[in-house]
Amino acid sequence: MNIKNGRKNLDKSFAKMKHIVVLTGAGMSAESGVKTFRDHDGLWEGHDVMKVASPKGFANNPELVLDFYNQRRRQLKTVEPNQAHKDLAALEVDYKVTIVTQNVDDLHERAGSSDVVHLHGELLKIRSTGNYNDIQVWTEDINLGDTCKKGYQLRPHIVWFGEDVPMIETAVKICYAADILIIIGTSMQVYPAASLINYVQPDTTIFYIDPKPAISNAGKVNVIAKSATEGMKELISILKTS
Ligand code: APR
Repeated sequence: MNIKNGRKNLDKSFAKMKHIVVLTGAGMSAESGVKTFRDHDGLWEGHDVMKVASPKGFANNPELVLDFYNQRRRQLKTVEPNQAHKDLAALEVDYKVTIVTQNVDDLHERAGSSDVVHLHGELLKIRSTGNYNDIQVWTEDINLGDTCKKGYQLRPHIVWFGEDVPMIETAVKICYAADILIIIGTSMQVYPAASLINYVQPDTTIFYIDPKPAISNAGKVNVIAKSATEGMKELISILKTS
């Protein structure tokens, strides 16, 4: 086999593939056993958001904030990707797929998705409070007194309320290039993530899977009012026939 030509052919067929962009939120991981934020019994019901997920909260009580994310990190080790994560990964056989997720878990990656952009950071990474770019993989608890090499306290690599979303520009560019946008399991309440729907081309087909959709079935949004796993089943059959 001529490897050079093989590569060329691969590139050619990849170029012809439609580009699916998927915007996911907490509902994507709900069936894996990860709590959403704003549903009844969601994470924010038992917590004061500004105390555990803001720079001010961290300055006032770093131990409380570290403990909140330590619990999330520990729980992440006990859950698995659900069928919807796996179905999205499997779409890569026929499509170029980019996942833009608001989730800080690694369930898309574990399901096999190869192109995942984390808008709100990642639970399994930490960064130095003294240098935004000093980011490391970190799978255990972060304790008060854990520092980077320069002596600054470590913090979760999470975008808190009131902080910039550095990946938003990348995400906007990705949305511009989408042939199909699939939104799954988000209440579309948190900006700038929720605004990404406005950055697709006028002819981009949009699907929105959520049991309690925040957007009605109007205009060009095709709402599938189902859970992520049930909705993905339905969407796959729609994609097969379109
Ligand atoms: N399948 C799909 N969607 C579901 C499921 C399910 N099984 N269960 C619940 N949902 C939906 C809810 O109907 C809701 O619309 O998931 C959505 C969860 O919304 P939120 O809790 O607001 O989560 P999200 O939209 O991801 O929040 C955005 O807010 O606090 C911040 O940084 C945090 O990234 C998060 C951001």
